This record gives sequence, C-alpha cells and structure tokens, in this order.
Amino acid sequence: MIEKLEGYISDLNKFDSHDLNEIESLKIKFLGRKGLINELFSDFKNVPAEQKKEFGQKINELKILAQNKYDVLKSNIKKSSNTISEDFTKPGFPVSSGSLHPITLIKNRIIDIFSKVGFELSEGPEIEDDWHNFTALNLPQHHPARDMQDTFFIQQNPDILLRTHTSSVQVRYLEDNPPPLKIISPGRVYRNEAISSRSHCIFHQIEGIYVDENVSFADLKQMILYFTKSMFGKSKLRFRPSFFPFTEPSAEVDIYWGLETETDYRITKGTGWLEIMGCGMVDPNVLENCNIDSEKYTGYAFGLGLERIAMLIYQIPDIRLFFENDIRFLNQFK
Ligand code: PHE
Repeated sequence: MIEKLEGYISDLNKFDSHDLNEIESLKIKFLGRKGLINELFSDFKNVPAEQKKEFGQKINELKILAQNKYDVLKSNIKKSSNTISEDFTKPGFPVSSGSLHPITLIKNRIIDIFSKVGFELSEGPEIEDDWHNFTALNLPQHHPARDMQDTFFIQQNPDILLRTHTSSVQVRYLEDNPPPLKIISPGRVYRNEAISSRSHCIFHQIEGIYVDENVSFADLKQMILYFTKSMFGKSKLRFRPSFFPFTEPSAEVDIYWGLETETDYRITKGTGWLEIMGCGMVDPNVLENCNIDSEKYTGYAFGLGLERIAMLIYQIPDIRLFFENDIRFLNQFK
C-alpha cells in the first residue's frame, strides 16, 4: 500500500503540462469525488495498524501536493495567456480629457464678448505696490476708503501687497499707453476678509476701461447693456449710485435674474436681483496721476466679480465649491 502511495507522489512530482484539459483531468484523477485520494482514504481501514500512522501522513502529503501542482500549473497557463495572446488590434480604453474650471469658462466668455467690441486684453501682476493698487487710484495714504478692501501686506514692506482689485491694471495701462485705449483685464485678487464660511480671501475680477475724447456715462450704460444681453440674455438692469475713489460718478449695477430655482433664491437672497459690478466715470485725478490730460479725455471703468456670475450661470449654490477642487464638481464642466 505504502509503495503504491509513494508511486503516486513521484508521478505527481514529475507531472508537467501546459494543456488545460490535461491539468483539469489531473485534478479529477487525484482530487475528484471518486478520485485516487478518496479511494485511498476508504482503503485506510484495511491498512495494518502499525502502518496506519505513516499511511495517514503520506495521504495528506499527496493531497497537498496534488492541490499545489494543480494551482501552479493552472496559474502558469493564465500568466502565459496574458502575455502571449493579447490582442493588440483591440481598441484601447478611452482616456477621458480634463475640463476647464468654471471660472475659466466664464472668464473666456466675457473676454469674447468684450473683444467683439474692440477691448484688448491686458494683464497685471498679483503682487502690487501701493501706488498702483491705491495711491494712483485716488486713494492716498490714510484715506478711509482703503478700509473698504482689507489688504494683505508683505510684512517687511508695507509698500508691497497682494492686489485687492484688478483696478491696479488700469493704472499700469494708463501710464504706458496714450488714449484712445480700451482694455479688459481679468485676474485674481486678494482680500483679507474675516474668516467665515461665506467670505473668501481669493476671488476673480474682470476690469474694463475705456478712455477717449467725449466718452460719457451713456456710453458706459450702453456697454453694460450689451454685455448683460450677450452674457445672460437679460437686460433688466438697475444702476444704484455708489462710491469708488477712482470713479466719479460711481454706480453699482444689479441685474434682474429672476426667481426660477432654489439656487436663484439663495444667490439673490430672495429678491431676484444680483449686484454684478461696480462702475463709473474715471476720476480726473486718476487720469492726471497717469499723465493723461483730463481736460481732453474722459473715460469709464467697470469691475465685475467672476464667482457670482459663474454661480448664476451654472446654478452653483455655494462659492466654496470653486476652491475645493472636488473632481465630482469639476467633471460637470466638460
Ligand atoms: N475695483 C472695484 C472693486 O473691486 C470695482 C470697480 C472697478 C468699480 C472699476 C469702479 C470701476 O470693488
């Protein structure tokens, strides 16, 4: 009996095959319900008592060996089929392309709208000096209106700061270019806002400025009307008198958006109206600060916040979504 068992063991050790059928029948032959191993177990009662221990050990050895052999040979087949029979003519897995951020999409649309009517693009630095962000814009040192825009200063040098608005680009452009001039400047701006869930220290604006002879407030209104019609398909506007040190007169513009969705309610605080920009006639002091003759030239300027507009257009209920970079959010803008 023992010799028979040892014979099986050495047969198994020698066995090798790459043929799945052969391997499967090996399994059935040894490990199947009516296979050799079960047959040997049922012979156990006929084994003489003094051989029972050795016989039992050998059967277990055989059983483990058969199972291992089967597993190894089978996984060899799998491995080789993975490498050899790959079909290189199959189409590949689709690679999905990325998408632009909603703020970028809105920015591009606004640039398109204004470039159709002759505005050129001009950008300025995010790290500014006091002159371009404040002083030249008719905001001298200690002017109380500086408090309207809490500022991040560079600690060692109070003259250097993170720009609080894109109006700084007005100054840069006016200093370097004689009128007539007509530019828009998109960009990121920074305000040192009190920490709350709704306030954000970083946001985006687009600035526009047009300086020429005989530019009037009527031109400004007409341009804003053209913009809101193209951007939102809506033209119900409200100009509220306001104050900016660099424009006189100044206004804030509200658009009537309507109250069709819950998000409309939330963004417009239940009124249907939303403030979308600040604007006004460029203050003569600003022109003079940039060496432009304010007797000869007049101009208008406006600044709008991109986050709000993106929230309305894409019905985004919470401004924080723009900064969290959650892929499930960003994926929706393909
Ligand atoms: N710079 C102003 C702000 O950030 C907006 C503005 C721009 C107002 C141009 C008037 C003219 O609030």
